[in-house]
Amino acid sequence: MSQPLRSDPNNLEALWMPFTANRQFKRAPRLLVGAKDMHYTAADGRKILDGTAGLWCVNAGHCREPITAAIREQAGRMDFAPGFQMGHPIAFEFASRLAAILPGDLDHVFFANSGSEAVDTALKIALAYHRAVGKPERQRLIGRVRGYHGVGFGGMSVGGIAANRKQFGAGLLGMVDHLPHTHDLAHNAYAKGQPEWGAHLADELERLVQLHDPSTIAAVIVEPLAGSTGVLVPPKGYLERLRAICDKHGILLIFDEVITGFGRLGAGFAADYFGIVPDLMTVAKGITNATVPMGAVFARKGIYEAFMNGPDGIELFHGYTYSGHPLAAAAGLATLELYRQEGLFERAASLADYWQSAIHSLKGVPSVIDLRNLGLVGGIELEPRPGRPGSRAYDVFVDCFENGLLIRVTADIIALSPPLIVEKNQIDQMVDTIDQALRRAA
Ligand SMILES: Cc1ncc(COP(=O)(O)O)c(C=O)c1O
Repeated sequence: MSQPLRSDPNNLEALWMPFTANRQFKRAPRLLVGAKDMHYTAADGRKILDGTAGLWCVNAGHCREPITAAIREQAGRMDFAPGFQMGHPIAFEFASRLAAILPGDLDHVFFANSGSEAVDTALKIALAYHRAVGKPERQRLIGRVRGYHGVGFGGMSVGGIAANRKQFGAGLLGMVDHLPHTHDLAHNAYAKGQPEWGAHLADELERLVQLHDPSTIAAVIVEPLAGSTGVLVPPKGYLERLRAICDKHGILLIFDEVITGFGRLGAGFAADYFGIVPDLMTVAKGITNATVPMGAVFARKGIYEAFMNGPDGIELFHGYTYSGHPLAAAAGLATLELYRQEGLFERAASLADYWQSAIHSLKGVPSVIDLRNLGLVGGIELEPRPGRPGSRAYDVFVDCFENGLLIRVTADIIALSPPLIVEKNQIDQMVDTIDQALRRAA
């Protein structure tokens, strides 16, 4: 190339943006150009308080020096090393550090690069596991309506968001069924923490198991707390029942902890918070504080061992060029250390009551029809405008951004998930900004 590379940062046309109304955005862009701790800096220089930890991922706050320093150092030492039939120490070190903080006998780690890849990896491990233990007929996967498991073909298929599926109908996996979701305003509106009503919805799994025959079912995948579809908090006893039904029928239980992992609920993982050990767990996002893309699957000892008991060759024909990428592993190690040093998971737990009161202080504000919370997650559900679903929450989102707060909206639900370093006065600022925006959008 003899011509110098030219770029034009003001031309937004070439980039096809993900999960975005491209034409609307390009007419009125919202650009972020910097970030530190609890704030972004917008292109016009305004400070924007981060109410969503980026996208549920920057749990320790932005541009934390120990993490950025570790990435810089690793980039200078070794940028990349292949992970197939080769290894590099930092990936092994990171896997060991993760295994040490995982609940129960979840003590093996398979690296991917995103939540979507982690989910597809977990589904493949589940299918291959049953084959490894002589039950190849176990091929059916059970997800849940309103579940979000990323955008790979596997995750999309077990996921339960109509909009994410209908453009790609022919690409959906065949042997899949779905549990009903647990969200019910008639019974659970304004529940603080876990709702009392709804554990019986787990019994739908027993019905599906009988419908398809247990011998055909490989795995059930759920988010312990569903985030992306609008903060659906599991009813008391619900996850326990899912675990019991899976155990009864030899079905693997997968927790998708891409959002709940790394402190979001005030414990290392939702599995710790609820005291339920899944057979496989998927994570991403907070694993590196979102600095370098990374996802992972955590597997219980018995699952890993089932593969290691087979022929002495490649045990799993699966992996990514960047599985265990050195920069991601370095970022991950520094992230875990920062979480530990600053006690951020405990910090989230200690703020949970204050957070709950702040979220529920919005009761009675025009158009609010439900408020829900767990750990440092908040959901604010709005009455949709007649004939224009989603428009009210979108207006609130734009209004908040213009007034210095980043929130996330899904249809007419506002989801909040601040970095775990959030201060009480910043929680107050979030709630005040949303309160005023809601009144303007009434
Ligand atoms: C529960 C869950 N699973 C999977 C994903 C997909 O992760 P990614 O966007 O990194 O592929 C997400 C993303 O928000 C998620 O919330």
